[in-house]
Amino acid sequence: MSQDWSRRHFISAAIGTAAGAAMLRPGIAAEPDDPSTVRTPHSAVVIASGNGLAAVRRAYELIGQGVDPLDAAIAGVNIVEDDPNDNSVGYGGLPNEDGVVELDASVMHGPTHKAGSVASLQKIRNPSKVARLVMLRTDHELLVGEGALRFAKAHGFAEENLLTDKSRQLWLDWRERRSEVDAWLPPASQPTTQHSRLDWRAAFTYGTINCLALNERGDLSGVTTTSGLSFKLAGRVGDSPIIGAGLYVDNEIGAAGSTGRGEANLLNCSSFSIVEMMGRGMTPVEACMEQLRRVVKHTERRLLDSAGRPTFGLTFYALRKDGAHGSATMTDGEKQVMYAVADGAGTAARPSRPLYSGK
Ligand code: GLY
Repeated sequence: MSQDWSRRHFISAAIGTAAGAAMLRPGIAAEPDDPSTVRTPHSAVVIASGNGLAAVRRAYELIGQGVDPLDAAIAGVNIVEDDPNDNSVGYGGLPNEDGVVELDASVMHGPTHKAGSVASLQKIRNPSKVARLVMLRTDHELLVGEGALRFAKAHGFAEENLLTDKSRQLWLDWRERRSEVDAWLPPASQPTTQHSRLDWRAAFTYGTINCLALNERGDLSGVTTTSGLSFKLAGRVGDSPIIGAGLYVDNEIGAAGSTGRGEANLLNCSSFSIVEMMGRGMTPVEACMEQLRRVVKHTERRLLDSAGRPTFGLTFYALRKDGAHGSATMTDGEKQVMYAVADGAGTAARPSRPLYSGK
């Protein structure tokens, strides 16, 4: 357990665990078709979005060594934040429309019911670590922009250029092809540049990593971190740093998080709703599926296809206090949407249940 967790946290964690165990509801057994497995309370489980296989493996190892589940989950997502080949998070994340990388992140610690977030943070590759310090070392929950950067620097974080050659090139390609009527031109000698039109469309993403962790004491925590919507308007903030939208933890019930179109999620407080639905007896998959239906119901016409299905991606992840877990996604495309799980059986990718099949 990290030294930052004070004795006060320890005591409230112990109380929370006892209360949580007492409040485990008899009616929350998994449905027969639920891909998750209910475990004896409490064996450790870590789940994450599909880009988080290395993250869940690392977090699970750390939990096994007695590290607090929040610190373990953050250490897991730091692998992805540091990875220059993941263009959706941290270093190498795709920039805003001005070519500047702006990162969002939130953390939530179940035993203390405390959270911290940063939004539109520039030049710092690990926004999840800064969010953790907002939680531990301020009386606030959310810091944004320049103030978040000054706070990070005050805590010794180094500023760096977060654009890699690849993410800069993807942005440049997008910028040069965005409009026929501006002064930006792709090179005449190489009309498609190194990256095809398809490449930058594929890179136009809301990609994110969400990671939820449960330890053997029954304590839950979570983290969500992202570079947000690629090529977004400067200052755009998505769901990831907003507690209740991109992440929510109730140590007596469970934890939930999301990846995908943040705007849809912000309008529906999805993570909070999923946890509340699990508290009322739904399985993790049922709660995620029901929340997707709510999002569809509230989606404006311009974002629906001719069959009334949203044209955007959105995936939810949920981990219940008894270790049952699940994920649901708006639409499965050619490639099945997966989520990452680490538990006593090892590390594996499991399918997210689609609301619609796009195949
Ligand atoms: N879910 C990430 C974002 O929309 O920024």
